[in-house]
Amino acid sequence: MAINFLHSFVAAVLSTTTVLVNAQTSAPLQFAGVNIAGFDFGCGTDGTCSASGAVPPIFQLSGIDGAGQMQHFFDDGYNVFRLPVGWQYLTNDQMTGVLDETQFANYNTLVSDCLSTGAYCLIDIHNYARYNGQVIGQGGPSNEVFAELWSNIASYWKNETKVIFGVMNEPHDIPNISAWAESGMCSLVRLQPFGKLAPSTQMILLPGTNYASAKTFVSSGSADALDEVKNPDGTFTNLIMDVHKYLDYDGSGTNAECVTNGIDDTWTPLATWLRANGRQALNSETGGGNVESCINYLSQAISYQASQSDVILGYIGWAAGSFATNYVLSQVPSYSGTSWNDTLLVSMAMSPRTNKFVVTVA
Ligand SMILES: *[C@@H]1O[C@H](CO)[C@@H](O)[C@H](O)[C@H]1NC(C)=O
Ligand SMILES: *[C@@H]1O[C@H](CO)[C@@H](O)[C@H](O)[C@H]1NC(C)=O
Ligand SMILES: *[C@@H]1O[C@H](CO)[C@@H](O)[C@H](O)[C@H]1NC(C)=O
Repeated sequence: MAINFLHSFVAAVLSTTTVLVNAQTSAPLQFAGVNIAGFDFGCGTDGTCSASGAVPPIFQLSGIDGAGQMQHFFDDGYNVFRLPVGWQYLTNDQMTGVLDETQFANYNTLVSDCLSTGAYCLIDIHNYARYNGQVIGQGGPSNEVFAELWSNIASYWKNETKVIFGVMNEPHDIPNISAWAESGMCSLVRLQPFGKLAPSTQMILLPGTNYASAKTFVSSGSADALDEVKNPDGTFTNLIMDVHKYLDYDGSGTNAECVTNGIDDTWTPLATWLRANGRQALNSETGGGNVESCINYLSQAISYQASQSDVILGYIGWAAGSFATNYVLSQVPSYSGTSWNDTLLVSMAMSPRTNKFVVTVA
């Protein structure tokens, strides 16, 4: 491995072009992770997914070696993997909360692979608050059906304190954000309607609108709406705001070049709101192209997050798993037969081994 070369290159990059932010708290981040994508392939932003479109990152299912990827990342200090999956995959294209046994077993292979590394494992329903074009609880599936889906998922892993429940990927164009928060999320939290309470030892992630935008989390009204979501005992314990942030010019995460570190217009106002309201957030998607602009800006963003680690728990890169290595945001490591080689952005900015901003790496 060209590790020594990489480290000296990183040191050079950090010392010459990166403005390291003075840490307010200087405590390390609790989480660094990677999205292990594939079970969500075939999902569109209108919540239309097809079970057959999924490309499981499971070697035994003729896929890429997601287990090997996760073990490699874990060895480099990552401690959480987000595991996106389409609702339709889990129910075999039925609009129901009842899990299809075979499909769920396939997905559970990935979750088990993740848990066996020792990392936290984030279940992410990758449906944009929709099922086949219709918004949950607002014209689409009822909150009861969605809550039943989560009840079945959560009860399966109710004893796994390292399983995190990511309620939904990237809600957007939500007609009524309070309705999303109140009737959608409140009924879900700790799954009260079904009497199968998820213990508050497990984290639940609450996403706002605009594709879970970190930048507009407060201005969109998502923050205030989701702040109403509480545990049955009235506490916020382990109810974590779920925010995404891309650093390209339109914030879409579709362009190779990064143009901002997002500190002034996103992370500072978000951290201020979180602190004022006694809440915390996890940045469950971020990333960029494997280019110098993203190495610099993302390093700055992560450094700043670490300075706000009382309210920002960490970051999760998008994405490894089943993506092609030439995907613009690829974080897919390649295996040479004896060792894993990381993409540039992972090795230079995101890896806890490189940036030393994460609690598990000394
Ligand atoms: C979960 O833990 C409870 C209490 O410790 C135990 O009674 C139950 O059998 C466990 N369930 C599973 C599925 O392991
Ligand atoms: C939005 O949803 C909330 C919660 O269900 C409800 O109280 C409110 O009346 C709704 N607002 C509009 C404009 O429909
Ligand atoms: C490892 O990855 C880097 C960055 O993607 C690439 O430049 C380099 O050629 C790769 N090395 C090997 C041995 O594959």
